Amino acid sequence: MTREEWLKITAALGAGAMLPKGLMASLLADEELKRSDFGKDFVWGTATAAYQIEGAWNLDGKGESIWDNFTHRNGGKKIKTRDNGDVAADFYHSYESDIELMKRMNIPASRFSIAWSRVLPEGAGTPNQKGIDFYNRVIDKCLKEGVEPWITCYHWDLPQALQKKGGWMNRDILGWFEEYVELCGKNFGDRVKNWMVFNEPMAFVGGGYLLGIHAPGIFGFKSFYKAVHHATLCHGIGGKVLKNLVKGGNIGTTFSCSAIDAKTDDPLDMKAAVRADVMFNRLFIEPILGLGYPKKDLPALKKIEKYMKPEDEGNMKFDFDFIGVQNYSRLVAEYLGIVPLINGINVPAKKLGDVTDMNWEVYPEGIYRIIKQFAAYEGVKNIYITENGAAFPDKVEGDEVHDPKRIQFLKDYLKNVLRAKREGVNVKGYFIWSFMDNFEWAEGNRPRFGIVHTDFKTQKRTIKDSGKWFTKFLAEQ
Ligand code: NOJ
Repeated sequence: MTREEWLKITAALGAGAMLPKGLMASLLADEELKRSDFGKDFVWGTATAAYQIEGAWNLDGKGESIWDNFTHRNGGKKIKTRDNGDVAADFYHSYESDIELMKRMNIPASRFSIAWSRVLPEGAGTPNQKGIDFYNRVIDKCLKEGVEPWITCYHWDLPQALQKKGGWMNRDILGWFEEYVELCGKNFGDRVKNWMVFNEPMAFVGGGYLLGIHAPGIFGFKSFYKAVHHATLCHGIGGKVLKNLVKGGNIGTTFSCSAIDAKTDDPLDMKAAVRADVMFNRLFIEPILGLGYPKKDLPALKKIEKYMKPEDEGNMKFDFDFIGVQNYSRLVAEYLGIVPLINGINVPAKKLGDVTDMNWEVYPEGIYRIIKQFAAYEGVKNIYITENGAAFPDKVEGDEVHDPKRIQFLKDYLKNVLRAKREGVNVKGYFIWSFMDNFEWAEGNRPRFGIVHTDFKTQKRTIKDSGKWFTKFLAEQ
């Protein structure tokens, strides 16, 4: 079937909404993906985060962050490979050549984050001008090279000075966060128009304050409920500050999310899937949309009420210009009563199909399903895919890095983004995680997500085959 024929059919059927699932999937499979299919205004980019790429952990006045502290603790035991972000991909020193490389690769937009403790070493109080200058140089370089900067305010690296006072468990964080976002907006908002308040709150609150596998390494329910509520309130606070300070700003925030299935149609598995959906997809977005915490489907969340003040309900709500969807895989839930909160576990991905180097299932249709799920909320105006990508072991051969699985992964996921877009969802952009290989949190430097290879010893960059594929894809308008 030709593209023209396909377009005729979809137009006749109202953008394909009525096509049977299997037929739609095979039509997309036959089609050669082109940049122009996504429309002229679609934003294309790559994403990174401060702690994962910058290095320079204690240079030029930067304060310690919870990730510096966590990775240095007990000889680095918390990190599988004992790596840390002290140097990472050394972006602090190589930002100029890295941004030039983005330009050579035709990448129109770069999403990166600000390290809170680089600009406010103590978390609040006296700013560090050298830190602010660094981000000014990064932003100016981006603009000079025609790479649009997209800033995430908080990508998990809380200043350790604030953690000493309780971090996300202390309600004072409402004031600290406001001060920090205000500093970002005032210093960078004249040139940067696209902002995200948070990166994946469920990941930093769940990993850091419930399971203890991410910084600051705290385990327990009390810490979790407090941190959930304070992060939720900070969503609204950050959003308001940026709306006021950034003229013509496009203000959003991002969420980790996955399509969820039940292992079987046994009611126990189905209920476990509903609870998993609350925890992994709904917990943080629903209060900002004015729907409150999803307590009906997960009554344990009532415990959050203990930390709420009467005015909080209204303050949790914020009308974001866009929602950043970050998707990698799917989750399949199975009932297991002894597991607290969810009363269920995820079926190991290896039992489900192909997996990436993170042991996450390769499940392209999942991105389509989760986009549709998020788009179905009345208050969601626009969606950007602010992260998608995969870690696979690369084959390095001299100046070439072969990563065919990553290319296939990106194509298959992108086809499903396009499918949602063609069905009328307002998906307006797509960012690959990640521009270059970097420090993958508790996993260390081993899983490589980049479309550019990082040699962590020499800091040499090599464009992978996937990077070459993306460059070519972007060149074809
Ligand atoms: C989520 C996070 O935002 C990012 O920091 C991480 O490296 C990727 N996904 C891959 O795990």
